[in-house]
Amino acid sequence: MKKLDPDKLPVHLAIIMDGNGRWAQQRMLKRVIGHQRGAETVNMVVEQAWQLGIKYLTLFAFSSENWSRPAIEVRALMSLLKKYIRQETARMMRKNIRYNVIGNRSDLPDDVNQTLDDAIAQTAGNTGMLLTLALSYGGRQELSMAAARLARDVMAGTLTPEQITVDTFGTYLDTGGLPDPDFLIRTSGEMRISNFLLWQLAYTELYFTETNWPDFTINELHKALADFQSRERRFGKTSDQLTRGSHH
Ligand code: IPE
Ligand code: IPE
Ligand code: MG
Repeated sequence: MKKLDPDKLPVHLAIIMDGNGRWAQQRMLKRVIGHQRGAETVNMVVEQAWQLGIKYLTLFAFSSENWSRPAIEVRALMSLLKKYIRQETARMMRKNIRYNVIGNRSDLPDDVNQTLDDAIAQTAGNTGMLLTLALSYGGRQELSMAAARLARDVMAGTLTPEQITVDTFGTYLDTGGLPDPDFLIRTSGEMRISNFLLWQLAYTELYFTETNWPDFTINELHKALADFQSRERRFGKTSDQLTRGSHH
């Protein structure tokens, strides 16, 4: 396995965990079995990210659009989510990991919200990795809700239109306070963003792999991170400026 440079890891790693359904269907199994196996990959990735010292890990677990799936699958995903959180909170405590949720929580069933509230409260004092779950999350929904909150503040007179900058806008998003993702991995061969973190991904390095999420391994994660380390992040500058220093 290629050695990773501990100084060049992403501060914030985001993942679109895709391909559970196809993984199962290819094996003549029910889609929900794919989601169960996917939860095991989540454990592996959390463990690895924690060991590597990655500060922020954000996982796309359920999108705003996923509500339009068959009710039976939505129910299975919600109960799996609840089970996962309950089961893993003790491990998060041992690892000093704090839970965070982005997305439209008011759409989630009450029992799921209760479980999330408990897990968030229990891990609130943890100072290690921040594990953010995107649940009932959509980038456009987040942006339009941020705009609505901004409009309310302008109407209330606590904010002027001139004060709306890139930085202030960012504080109105669900991710307010989180650094933007440095690296995004999407599994299962789909090359799209699917309404994930539209604002925050502006300068994120993107990585796509054909592997379905339940088959995603430690080796693949390391391969992806090695790829990230080989990239030059220019942020609009020239390559020369980066190698010779910003005064050129
Ligand atoms: C990702 O796997 C999990 C969720 C979106 C909840 P999918 O369920 O999308 O799997 P495919 O894309 O159908 O294979
Ligand atoms: C994106 O996967 C959402 C999650 C991984 C939770 P989808 O499988 O829902 O994405 P599309 O609809 O194929 O783009
Ligand atoms: Mg999918």
